[in-house]
Amino acid sequence: MSSQSILDDLVDQARSSFAQALSPADLENAKAVFLGKAGRVTELMKGLAALSVDEKKSRGAAINQTKQAIEQALTERRQALAQAELDAQLRAEALDVSLPGRQRMPGGLHPVSLTMERIEAIFGSMGFDVAQGPEIETDWFNFTALNTPADHPARSMHDTFYVEGGTPDEPHLLRTHTSPMQIRYAVQHVKKHRALIERGELMPEIRVIAPGRTYRVDSDATHSPMFHQCEGLWIGENVSFKDLKVVFTDFCRTFFESKDLVLRFRPSFFPFTEPSAEIDIQFQAGPLAGRWLEVAGSGQVHPNVVRNMGLDPEKYIGFAFGMGPDRLTMLRYGVNDLRLFFDGDIRFLAQFN
Ligand code: PHE
Repeated sequence: MSSQSILDDLVDQARSSFAQALSPADLENAKAVFLGKAGRVTELMKGLAALSVDEKKSRGAAINQTKQAIEQALTERRQALAQAELDAQLRAEALDVSLPGRQRMPGGLHPVSLTMERIEAIFGSMGFDVAQGPEIETDWFNFTALNTPADHPARSMHDTFYVEGGTPDEPHLLRTHTSPMQIRYAVQHVKKHRALIERGELMPEIRVIAPGRTYRVDSDATHSPMFHQCEGLWIGENVSFKDLKVVFTDFCRTFFESKDLVLRFRPSFFPFTEPSAEIDIQFQAGPLAGRWLEVAGSGQVHPNVVRNMGLDPEKYIGFAFGMGPDRLTMLRYGVNDLRLFFDGDIRFLAQFN
């Protein structure tokens, strides 16, 4: 074999050795074999020492070319490996730009939420505060403080969901109405104005609504085990049934945008009010015209309840009402099955937005 073909053969060997290197580390090892301090090219250089000056020149130039060819092969392989790594990385992080994008679906308020907002806005404009309270209540706030005797039918297991966590003396339950908020709010209010009250001065009036979820063991087209109520309470030195009539009439006419809406206060009974009245409304026009429709319970707050608020019933008097936002929503939009509100059917719900 000629000395040149030995050199060519060495370049071929280097090339195939580099080609077999599948990682940068493998490639560095392969490089050492040919270009390292004790590598094949260095070995050839050492062989020059024994040659004559002329031979050294031509042989040296040939070895240098070989070395350059090997270095060139090395560089090419390095680049190929780097490119392969980049390709793999890009493949791993690939974005499928042909996938359809994720749409943002704008939500809308539930019809009952729309009603709640409307109630809050109307009573807010009449100077009523808005309060929220717990849905899990104690027997005291839900019944006892509201002058509801232990044998009242509303306490029976039939109507009330009892929950774990209470004691036999103080069972815990899902509030059956928002009326416990009368006590909770009033007690806070009295606490806030204690100094004033103790000095014998008059506290600022209590004027609040308390919207929220309530629960009863009941379920049909017009009853849901979870439903909504909105409590109203106005207590002051001189708040009368007349004020209740004015406020509630105003509210209903504004809510239904109907100036000629008529209200009827029908005598009724609630343990926590005396006298008590159911409030019925009557539209003068539209599909419901002429019918009396019950929308709320109401009454003058019972002296025992005023006392449980921490106030002197000889000094403070007022009224309370509790209405059903679900029913108000049905009447306003002409919905005839309450269950539609709680089925979560988007085809129904989307109509309100
Ligand atoms: N809490 C009563 C109910 O759920 C409604 C009501 C509230 C009545 C306030 C009078 C005063 O039926």
